[in-house]
Parts: sequence; C-alpha cells; structure tokens
Amino acid sequence: MKLKEIHSLAIEMAEEADFRGKKGVEEALERRKEKYEKLSDKKKEEYDKSDLTNPYPDSIILNETDDKEVKKVLVGIDVEPAELLLAREIGGVDLVISHHPLGKGLARLSDVMELQVDILAHYGVPVNIAEGLTKERISEVARGLNGANHERTVDAARILNMNLMCLHTACDNLAARFLREEIEEAKPSRLGELMKVFEGMEEYDRAKEISAGPQIFVGGKERRCGRIALTEITGGTAGSSKMYEKMAQAGIGTVVGMHMGKEHYEEAKSSLINVVIAGHMSSDSLGVNLLMDKLEKEGIEIVPCSGFTRVSRNKSK
Ligand SMILES: [Fe+2]
Repeated sequence: MKLKEIHSLAIEMAEEADFRGKKGVEEALERRKEKYEKLSDKKKEEYDKSDLTNPYPDSIILNETDDKEVKKVLVGIDVEPAELLLAREIGGVDLVISHHPLGKGLARLSDVMELQVDILAHYGVPVNIAEGLTKERISEVARGLNGANHERTVDAARILNMNLMCLHTACDNLAARFLREEIEEAKPSRLGELMKVFEGMEEYDRAKEISAGPQIFVGGKERRCGRIALTEITGGTAGSSKMYEKMAQAGIGTVVGMHMGKEHYEEAKSSLINVVIAGHMSSDSLGVNLLMDKLEKEGIEIVPCSGFTRVSRNKSK
C-alpha cells in the first residue's frame, strides 16, 4: 500500500464506523460543499479542498516525501521529533503515524467536534442544547490551541525526509464503535458488570498491569448503569462540562469515556451521572489497532512506540 491508499483506507473505515452513519457523514460533507460554493474566489483559493472529501481535519497526511510502497510503519500515540529520530535509528521505516493530531491537524482539532452534537443527539440530548453547548466549547478549544507550536514535528519530518500522517478521529471512531458494540451486547445493568466488559480486551488488561486500567470515576460497582452513553470516546476532545446536567435530564445514566479532567468530573458527579473511564492510551490503542490490523493483513510491518499497545485481532478471526 502507498501513503495515500493508507490514508484513504483510514478515512473510509472511520466513515463506516461514524456515529452519524455513512449517510450522516455524506450529508455533513454536502453541507461543506454548499458553503464552499458560496465563497468568493479568493476564499475558495484559501480553502483546504481536502475538507470536501475528508470529514476529519485531524486525520491528514502531514508530510509526503515519495510515492513508494509502505512496508514498515512506526506508530505512536504521540509523535514528536524524538520518535522520528527513533524511526531513522531503527531504519527501514517508510511512514510514521501519530494518533494525536499534529501540524494543521492539531490546529483544526476543534473542527471535528461538530461530531459531538450528533453523538449527544443520538443519546437523546435535544440537538439545540447539544449544539449550543458544543459550539461554545469549540471556540474555547480553538482558542486554547491557537498558541501551540503546531508544526514542530512536521518540520522535523521535512528535515528528516520522512512520510508523516496523523489519524486521530479516524481511529477514535473505530474504538467508539467497537466499545459500543461490546457494551450493547453485554447489556450490563450494574457498573461492576460494565467494568467486566473491558476484561479480556488486551489493551485494557495490559493497561491494568501498569495501573492505568479502567476505573469507576463516579459511582460504585453496585450502582445501576441506566442508559450507557459513549459520548466521550470520539469527537476530538472533551466536550462542554455543562453538558452533564443536560445529559442527566435526557435520561443518560452512565458515561463511558477515555479520560476526564477535574471540572468535568465535578459536573458529572453533581449531575449524578456515573462515569467509567476506560483509560486514555489503552482506548487510543484500541482504535489504532483496528486500523493496523488491516495494514498488517496487507503485509505491512507495524512497529509500536510512544504509548501505543499493539494488539492484533487478525488471528482471532
Ligand atoms: Fe487521545
């Protein structure tokens, strides 16, 4: 597979797994196209045309050096110049993939957060409320990212002449669908049963070994789950902390997320929403693994680094 084929495959899989469904994704792209058509010629020139076909601006090719077959990939959750040097040191690496967004993908992380509106609506939060609070949060995230040194790693890739891409929401969508299906199948009624769903998933078992396994943040093993919502696995980054109250009113009983900060924890707790935190690197690894399985099948060697726990599900199927 070549660089662009790998990227296209990732986007295709992410669309397939998207909460909005393929049709919902197509509609979102259609709306972008309509907006684009209305722009002035100058604005059209400045517009990133890849947005018209790629729904995930945080999942992009950042540096393309050549068009050769990719045989070996170094994959990390966070890629910095150190990982690129590592790739050169071990040799033979044709492509480096970072899960967390870099460069323009990082600068535009807030642009994927629209997805959260649809996820929340899927779980019954009135769409106007989900949209109002998410929009507010999107500008907050955009402002927060404004001062970052976005291009640092991309610059290093250019100097080292290395192919680089980041696949963030593209992989998080895969993790979200996987967990959603596992949880829906298990139908846990108490939080203790919900915690059991993670058992046997190697990413989480290995995380447990380093004390980073799934945890009940709010609630207890004996507490009832109520309606379980996977609102915090995909969609860029944490949404609005004001959402928990609205989620409780919408009938959500338990939220499953990857990680949670203090403010969100406090709000969830006071809204009496149970919170199960699956784990950050482990959940990120799960999503990346589901894509890497496809690359592995194509004969590509995967070298994991930087917090990425490689687990292949190819043999078990
Ligand atoms: Fe992450």
